Amino acid sequence: MKKIIAVDGPAGAGKSTVSKKAAEKLGYTYIDTGAMYRAVGLKILESGKPLTENFLAEVTEKIQIELDESARVFVDGEEVTKKIRTPEVSKLASDVSKFPFVRKKLTELQRKMAERGQVIMDGRDIGTQVLPNADLKIFLTASLEERAKRRFEELKTKGQQLDLSEIEKEIFLRDKQDMERETAPLKQADDAILLDTTNLKIEEVLNKILELAK
Ligand code: DC
Repeated sequence: MKKIIAVDGPAGAGKSTVSKKAAEKLGYTYIDTGAMYRAVGLKILESGKPLTENFLAEVTEKIQIELDESARVFVDGEEVTKKIRTPEVSKLASDVSKFPFVRKKLTELQRKMAERGQVIMDGRDIGTQVLPNADLKIFLTASLEERAKRRFEELKTKGQQLDLSEIEKEIFLRDKQDMERETAPLKQADDAILLDTTNLKIEEVLNKILELAK
């Protein structure tokens, strides 16, 4: 069995959904690195202050981020699992992720979390930067239209009614920003397996990953 699995890809490709399910099946720990960038973004949002480099450095130095076995997210002891899933936090997470000192702190934390092995970690730079020696690397993608549709449905089930074209625009801009940043941009690792999920059901994607993990 592959002990360390890295899953990367653009926003809304289904990384967290399938990684979580695969982790359950394999008895592995699921680590959502996007949640960590979101945690930093939330801290900025809740401060009510503008995002300046100095203030972000202060927040990054002090912040305590924890993920538990059920993928619940805690910031400075407070559970923020739901709060970090808003469009505002998505945008801020991408904004803060451009800063090398933020990436350095979170990357170190992520490597430490993966030390024990038997982990599935998802994000943007896991196969390229965080865990370049991962046993299995998957780059999960889907068309922009399909990803926007999935996000729309997901938010609907959570009682949030957003405009589909707005979601599509938000995802497009966030991916562009994540792909164009200088430090650890979103990119498929040379040795990653590309999985286009546009026409696949969750179960089909899950089965492919489980097959590859053998
Ligand atoms: O996976 P997500 O949508 O929750 O991630 C939110 C943002 O965090 C994403 O737009 C960019 C940033 N991120 C990152 O830069 N590196 C990662 N490994 C994970 C997320």
